[in-house]
Amino acid sequence: MHFQNDLLLKAAKAETTQRTPVWLMRQAGRILPEYRKVRAIAKDFKTLVKTPELAAEVTIQPVDILGVDAAIIFSDILVIPEAMGLNYEMEESKGPVFPKCIMSPADLSGIHVAQAEELHYVLDAIKLTKRQLNGRVPLIGFSGAPWTIFSYMVEGGGSKTFSKAKKMLYTQPEFSHRLLTMITESTINYLKGQITAGADIVQIFDSWAGILSPEQYAEFSLKYIARICDAIDNAPTIVFAKGAYFAREEMNKLHCQVIGMDWNMDIQESRKMMPDKILQGNLDPCALYGSLDDVKRETRKMIDAFGPRRHIANLGHGLYPDIEVDKVKCFIDTVKEYSSSAR
Ligand code: CP3
Repeated sequence: MHFQNDLLLKAAKAETTQRTPVWLMRQAGRILPEYRKVRAIAKDFKTLVKTPELAAEVTIQPVDILGVDAAIIFSDILVIPEAMGLNYEMEESKGPVFPKCIMSPADLSGIHVAQAEELHYVLDAIKLTKRQLNGRVPLIGFSGAPWTIFSYMVEGGGSKTFSKAKKMLYTQPEFSHRLLTMITESTINYLKGQITAGADIVQIFDSWAGILSPEQYAEFSLKYIARICDAIDNAPTIVFAKGAYFAREEMNKLHCQVIGMDWNMDIQESRKMMPDKILQGNLDPCALYGSLDDVKRETRKMIDAFGPRRHIANLGHGLYPDIEVDKVKCFIDTVKEYSSSAR
């Protein structure tokens, strides 16, 4: 595959690039009026996810409108529980809800290890997006980390504390491992399918890493992320574990190329703890609520702290829907300009 812009892939392989690549978590979505238009045509979120033509369209929008160095396939981490047999609904302005959730071993009766083909609509969206991108930028595939997916399957939706999911780890550890193993195997099948369909690099989102103790994190999350990283050998892998500052030394040992960082993680300290990794991140998305001058200043500070090499610029978590598009563009343009002039 010949790319017009392969900055992200070069950076992920630790090759020197003429500037720092930049993309954003949740770059496709409600901040863009163009997304809201397509979303209205689709009527609901799941139809958008399951219609490859529309999913490809919103995947490419941020490349055209924001000028990011990569596209990320438009989907959701919750397609995995659905493929395993646990249906979810995306409720307007509320988020995901599972009509049935997993509480005991009996609830596993309708649940199976998913095969990639069961997520054919995502694979079709990847193939179509790759054709339409035509080498302009690489395409990122993704999945949730097993622990984050487990949290939704047990909790039945979002939560501030995820206390039901954590209770399960304390009260039914063996059963928890059984479910985590099934999610891990499904995720390996799915990510391999995404890479075969054309994803150039994949990211694993562990959004709820930060609510576990270091000991629990090692046992119930990192172990399964490591299994996924070991199984993926034909594309670079990014692991983003939000709030897992306590696991950085362990994450340096994963068979992945890139570690995503949130804004709680000090940059210099992270360089010392993860010397073998390319680091991605980590500006607080809330910094984009400031003035354009504030955004420029904060972005330059971030670029200076990471230095010119071994960095992929991003936010420390996804964009919030009420962040203004011109602030987002300012972040992207500042990364591009400042990181080219700084070297
Ligand atoms: O642009 C991209 O980043 C690609 C698409 C993408 C979405 N979800 C689309 C989406 C990605 C990578 C995700 C991942 C995801 N989904 C995560 C992990 C990343 C993170 O933010 O920590 C999680 C935890 C989910 C589950 C999820 N999906 C929640 C909790 C919600 C509701 C909260 C919210 O932000 O609305 C969603 C909905 C969702 N997923 C939307 C989008 C664009 C908004 C729905 C809409 O358009 O109506």
